[in-house]
Amino acid sequence: MLQDREIAILIEELYKYHGYDFSGYSAASFRRRVERLYTMDGFTDFSDFLSRARSDEDYFKHLVEEITVNVTEMFRDPSFYRTLRTEILPILATKPFIRIWHAGCATGEEVFSVAILLKELNVLHKSLLYATDLNPAVLEIAKKGLFPLRTIQQYAENYRIASGKNDFSDYYIANYGFAKFSDELIDRMVFSQHNLVIDGSFNEFDLILCRNVLIYFDKDFQRIALELFDQSLSKLGYLALGTKETIKFSSIQHRFKQFEKEKIWKKMI
Ligand SMILES: C[S@@+](CC[C@H](N)C(=O)[O-])C[C@H]1O[C@@H](n2cnc3c(N)ncnc32)[C@H](O)[C@@H]1O
Repeated sequence: MLQDREIAILIEELYKYHGYDFSGYSAASFRRRVERLYTMDGFTDFSDFLSRARSDEDYFKHLVEEITVNVTEMFRDPSFYRTLRTEILPILATKPFIRIWHAGCATGEEVFSVAILLKELNVLHKSLLYATDLNPAVLEIAKKGLFPLRTIQQYAENYRIASGKNDFSDYYIANYGFAKFSDELIDRMVFSQHNLVIDGSFNEFDLILCRNVLIYFDKDFQRIALELFDQSLSKLGYLALGTKETIKFSSIQHRFKQFEKEKIWKKMI
């Protein structure tokens, strides 16, 4: 429906006016999402759409929310969390302080899942979980630790498969259709906006999780993000990606050793 030239102009203008670089997002998925938004919001003229995207801040926010894929869940891929619980976190637990970065955290379900594991290993008090995303709207949701009750049954099942130790309901209070997760978990989290292809390194971490984000990037954006993770990981730190993602064939692969299970790599040098 939109021409290639129009998509290219939109990408250029979003960068020029808002500093958001979408040039390295998988073209087909970017086009699909932009066209859906264009139709959903009743545009018939591309220049009207472009002008709203360029100069109306609220519309731009709405556009970012619609273009980025924010689907997530607690204990997504439970076997990954089981490995984290039994093999990775016990090693980190021997350190005086544990720093974790959730890059592309969406609405925070992944961060709360890891905080629960840290609590069950009695190391939450000496851990800090940094959670970042390019989309400020999802961070606002994440900070509250409020998740719809209708999703909790599935999350509790994931938690159980991930070898959860407690009754999942110990971690939240149900109220008005939402599960409010405990402040004890939230107190160890720092949320901030960060763009993986534009912003630099901001700390050194023992574990970086960037799950189901690189899948939307082309090779060049993946390289930028992976080099950023390499720079931001301490020696012997771990990098965890989503099930369909890899560091194979990247510029950083020779510095990492893949863990036998799951998409987890250890930084060796
Ligand atoms: C599908 S969600 C993944 C959430 C979670 N990590 C998980 O696996 O369930 C992808 C997230 O990546 C974020 N994202 C996309 N491009 C990004 C970028 N350049 N920098 C930081 N975050 C980005 C999106 O806003 C979205 O919240």
